[in-house]
Amino acid sequence: MRYNLCMRILGIETSCDETAVCLIEAEGAFGPDFHFKILGNALSSQAAIHAQFGGVFPNLAKNEHSKNLVPMLTQTLDEAHALEKGLTMSFSGHRKSLEEILAREPELYEKLEEFLQKYERPNIDCIAVTAGPGLAPALWVGVNFAKALSLIWDTPIIAVDHMEGHIVMSMMKDGALAHFEFPVLSLLVSGGHTEFVLSEKFGRYKLVGRTRDDAAGEAFDKVARMLGLPYPGGPHISRLAAKARTSSEVTPHWMKLPRPMLHEDNFDFSFSGLKTAVLRIVEANTPLADEMKTVIAREFEDAVADVLVGKTLRAVDTYGANAVIMGGGVSANTHIRHRLAETLAEEGNIAKLLVCPPEFSTDNALMIALPGYFDALKKEFADPTTLVANADLSLGDRT
Ligand code: KG4
Ligand code: ZN
Repeated sequence: MRYNLCMRILGIETSCDETAVCLIEAEGAFGPDFHFKILGNALSSQAAIHAQFGGVFPNLAKNEHSKNLVPMLTQTLDEAHALEKGLTMSFSGHRKSLEEILAREPELYEKLEEFLQKYERPNIDCIAVTAGPGLAPALWVGVNFAKALSLIWDTPIIAVDHMEGHIVMSMMKDGALAHFEFPVLSLLVSGGHTEFVLSEKFGRYKLVGRTRDDAAGEAFDKVARMLGLPYPGGPHISRLAAKARTSSEVTPHWMKLPRPMLHEDNFDFSFSGLKTAVLRIVEANTPLADEMKTVIAREFEDAVADVLVGKTLRAVDTYGANAVIMGGGVSANTHIRHRLAETLAEEGNIAKLLVCPPEFSTDNALMIALPGYFDALKKEFADPTTLVANADLSLGDRT
């Protein structure tokens, strides 16, 4: 990597229940010259805390982010060897503004003040933060933290769309861009979203289909709850389903689940009926024997996979996509990944499947730093005085 043209981007992600910070060094325009290196990467998951409620509690998430952001920043900079003690920056001139920015996050303010009294300004060029979509109280903590750091360190901010983060993350391979061509069809499947986004070129997004009710991840979480499994349910269902796949137990006819909207001539989804169908089976068979739970998990995973794969194939065909991205938490699902990869290959399909390593499929801050870098190249900075968190931010607006 040449060091004269590279940029250091600090990524911050707090849209849901992961508090994540990452520092990357990147170089080159979007294309074969692009390279990046992760200098530091830290993540604190609140999953165990929210597990007792069976889902994410926005205000609890907000408090956890306030508590964890400075420790995650410290860990990231430490790993990057960018944490320098010494003659600390004087921020007394900014104290009042800092108090205003973090007025609703007193714990974050306290921790940040302590941090600033100890450490020098790190060598970074830009702060990329998730501005939306997500849970408003959770998003605001990250946005306000970015504003505070931007003020103290005199560093520009980039507002990043979380869903673009999942897309750009999947375009990477070994610290560079994977080989693929546009148009790219992205199947985004997470806890809050299930949608198809078409990109004719990098940075352009058109929403071509979406769920009409629950998101795929939400359905995984709700069905897991019905089966008595902890939150987040995706990995637990997946584990049970994998167990059922190794046995010869067939799915009885009465346990067959619907494949909602699979044959409809559109690119929308609906997972709420699927969830209700599982509920009926569970209610009729309570208390559920362990073997039955595994068979239900397998049938449910199969139903979701059939719908996602079937619709994706049709969308590839309709839009002439050369690459398919599957991104978001549900794309960590091994079975769905294999099914999609296999089917695309079987069909002699020209579309290449791009997925990221499972540990980067769920929320993290690298996926925010990366699009942040490309926006920084174009100097698309946010105005910290007007930047807001937007829970309903939609990629479909960027055509
Ligand atoms: O993208 P993500 O980390 O957060 C959001 O932006 O929502 O996605 C979280 C969702 C949760 O609903 C979780 O159950 C699901 O992704 N998930 C999975 C798996 N791992 C996480 N769903 C199915 N199979 C998995 N292995
Ligand atoms: Zn996500």
